[in-house]
Amino acid sequence: MGSSTYEWMLRHADTVAAETGAAWPYSQPTWVFSKRTLPTVPGADIRFVRGDVRPVHGAMRAAAGDRNIWIVGGGDLAGQFHDAGLLDEIIVQVGSVTLGRGKPLFPRQLTSPPLVLVSVRQVGTGFAELRYQVPSGAIAPAV
Ligand SMILES: NC(=O)c1ccc[n+]([C@@H]2O[C@H](COP(=O)([O-])OP(=O)(O)OC[C@H]3O[C@@H](n4cnc5c(N)ncnc54)[C@H](OP(=O)(O)O)[C@@H]3O)[C@@H](O)[C@H]2O)c1
Repeated sequence: MGSSTYEWMLRHADTVAAETGAAWPYSQPTWVFSKRTLPTVPGADIRFVRGDVRPVHGAMRAAAGDRNIWIVGGGDLAGQFHDAGLLDEIIVQVGSVTLGRGKPLFPRQLTSPPLVLVSVRQVGTGFAELRYQVPSGAIAPAV
């Protein structure tokens, strides 16, 4: 995850704990991208990294084995993995807050070839989940 996402979790630790049972809900290792020095979470396996996503992806791959790697976001960080050909799937949950305002969720031009929509799922009464496959070889310029 990027540092904005990480700092959001630190600022909203009480909310996260109420919803998940723990202020830091992840047992798997987490890589946080930042050029700054950020506070850690006691007991959590958090690794601070910066720069090129490719060597970090190598470390993630080694830790994950044949399990999935989840790029939490934000969108530009996920886009950096896409630029390097390291994203195979994009899962977007659209909620009502998404409709009114915001910046591009995934700031890349995804036109040639386009993403392949493979499923649409309702999540409770709040979200629609769109699951896209990223065509192999797709490289999109940043917008
Ligand atoms: N609802 C959800 O599921 C969900 C998921 C993800 C995010 N979010 C929210 O969406 C917003 C995303 O914010 P954001 O777009 O600012 O994204 P972000 O990816 O969380 O944070 C961006 C920051 O990450 C660091 N960064 C990114 N790439 C880097 C690299 N290659 N090397 C070093 N540092 C790098 C930079 O921070 P430094 O200035 O520290 O260097 C950059 O300013 C946040 O409010 C977050 O809470 C929501």
